[in-house]
Amino acid sequence: MPPDLAPPDVECDVDLRPYNSFGLPARARRLVRIRSDADLRWVVNHPDWGRATKFILGGGSNLVLTQDLKPLVLKVEVPGRRVLDDGDDWVLEAGAGERWHEWVMWSIAQGVGGLENLALIPGTVGAAPVQNIGAYGVELKDRFDSLDTLDLMSGRLVRLDRAACHFAYRDSVFKQHLAGRSVILRVRFRCPKRWVPQLDYLDLQRAQEAAGVAQPTPLQVAEWVMAIRRAKLPDPAVIGNAGSFFKNPIVSAEKCREVIARDPHLVHYPLEDGRCKLAAGWLIDACGWKGKTVGGAGVYEKQALVLVNRGEARGGEVLTLAQAIQASVYARFGVTLEPEPVVV
Ligand code: EPU
Repeated sequence: MPPDLAPPDVECDVDLRPYNSFGLPARARRLVRIRSDADLRWVVNHPDWGRATKFILGGGSNLVLTQDLKPLVLKVEVPGRRVLDDGDDWVLEAGAGERWHEWVMWSIAQGVGGLENLALIPGTVGAAPVQNIGAYGVELKDRFDSLDTLDLMSGRLVRLDRAACHFAYRDSVFKQHLAGRSVILRVRFRCPKRWVPQLDYLDLQRAQEAAGVAQPTPLQVAEWVMAIRRAKLPDPAVIGNAGSFFKNPIVSAEKCREVIARDPHLVHYPLEDGRCKLAAGWLIDACGWKGKTVGGAGVYEKQALVLVNRGEARGGEVLTLAQAIQASVYARFGVTLEPEPVVV
């Protein structure tokens, strides 16, 4: 049998610390690396593993592990990168196991602009649609074309378009009724050949002014985005974290007015439907959480929305800290914060 057709190994008692960006200690009882559609089909059709409960692991950058994982862990490592010419657009296709940031930089190196505002986001290509990653005025859904996913029950390969993915703010069908039921194998992006930079975010405008560049290239925008991120956000390779720990809460116009009446400096963004998105980082900061710790878990000094592993944090400490933050923000503002990462 050629090596690429050999079935994958089922590894036992695997340390998950290197596979979650928080660096939290947990082990997988059984883990299979999925490097191709065939690997996943092998699992689905296997007499034992086919019916086993499964946990899908991408880059582990949006995950809080509070315990060992008993389900069969499917670690998605499908490779592949290509650019397709589709008339007025480039269509980019990446294997779900590609690292997101390397993928973005590769697409720019191919002369394709469109993903640059999403540079330096940790995680994998396959995890990106799950929470509809977004930063600096661009969300994944704005550049999305379609994806291939394999249904774990039927073993069918399905192509989903944007409408079928039900993208919303840090949300998609993969966090809702397809959660744990299907594995994303490949994602395609659609980027117009006529590239237009997205520079609405204030810090990007400042970077453009400082550089004195009227017509930037995608690479220049990516470099500005990276500089902004490095100044505000911890590098998971150095300090364990899962990015923003909470979503920015969306509240009614009335609720927003009520908070502003008491705290005029509240950072908020009016939405088209009349509601308001509040800056969760500002709310947490206003409650005095920056730099506070519970055991090995802490609130990042430069961005209160990011919880970090100060060294030997356990998942339970991260949760205790998160719950204390939620309670204090609710007590002061009457606003409920919803965690962004998946907690297991
Ligand atoms: N702010 C504070 N104190 C803080 C943190 C923030 O006052 O400790 C204020 C800032 O001064 C700013 C506002 O809150 O006026 C918003 O902060 P920022 O621009 O840093 O963005 P964010 O709303 O905290 C969101 C995303 C980030 C994304 C940035 C940039 C969410 C949950 N987070 O953060 O995404 O990079 O915007 O677009 O939507 C992620 O999801 O993991 C993530 C990092």
